[in-house]
Amino acid sequence: MGNIFAVTNQKGGVGKTTTAVNLAASLAESGKKVLLIDLDPQGNASTGCGVDKAEINKSSYDVIMAEAKAIDAIVSPEDLSFDVLPTNVDLTAAEVQLLDVNLREHRLRLALESTRDRYDFILIDCPPSLSMLTVNALVASKGVIIPIQCEYYALEGLSSLLKTVERIKQRANPALEITGLIRTMFDARNNLANQVSRQLIVHFDKKVFHSIIPRNVRLAEAPSHGVPVVSYDRSSRGSIAYMALASEFIRREKNN
Ligand SMILES: Nc1ncnc2c1ncn2[C@@H]1O[C@H](COP(=O)(O)OP(=O)(O)OP(=O)(O)O)[C@@H](O)[C@H]1O
Ligand SMILES: [Mg+2]
Repeated sequence: MGNIFAVTNQKGGVGKTTTAVNLAASLAESGKKVLLIDLDPQGNASTGCGVDKAEINKSSYDVIMAEAKAIDAIVSPEDLSFDVLPTNVDLTAAEVQLLDVNLREHRLRLALESTRDRYDFILIDCPPSLSMLTVNALVASKGVIIPIQCEYYALEGLSSLLKTVERIKQRANPALEITGLIRTMFDARNNLANQVSRQLIVHFDKKVFHSIIPRNVRLAEAPSHGVPVVSYDRSSRGSIAYMALASEFIRREKNN
């Protein structure tokens, strides 16, 4: 589990996928060997990495249902410097099917056992729910990366995520830790954003990454070109912010 991180927050649209794709790309730019796992049936991370969902042969659905080996489902898109375990809408069925299988919360962990040593870091993009898919991601992971949009409702819902993390730590994965919270789509001119940001630091202290991801249109545009922002516009504020986040992340992990 040493190198696996779940990018999660059950609140929708907070920047999970943008963070998973661009942190993966920035870690790879820093010379790390990275795998990005798309565990959201929406498949946004797959699309954002230029993987055509209609052409996927084996997906994270097959892997989590033990119908394919991870190694046979992983792809290395030409334009990227990291690997992707893509998904498509099939994964929706896994939510229900997993309820009937043995070791249902451990499926992803078991599926990654033989592959994880090939990578320095594995990031999992989770769906916006605390579903069986997210539970599988948390059981497989060492750390939880939580993107937060600094808005009024940001802290609401965070407590149920933290409770879920605690429950999984006690029952299934004692090694699980909160790696950090990342402030996303940040607008420094917005008073409320600054207020929520301060509250986060009061509650979570050093768990809040120093690197802040600003609202930047280049980050929103890049997925339609099927590439991370470092490939789309390397000098954009969004790209620079995710590169800084990757450096901070690597530094923290080295000291852990
Ligand atoms: N820093 C940013 N600046 C501008 N736009 C952003 C930024 N981060 C994310 N977005 C845009 O906001 C929207 C939501 O982001 P994203 O898809 O990453 O969130 P999510 O948490 O993965 O959503 P979901 O819960 O649906 O999976 C997307 O259109 C994305 O392009
Ligand atoms: Mg997403």
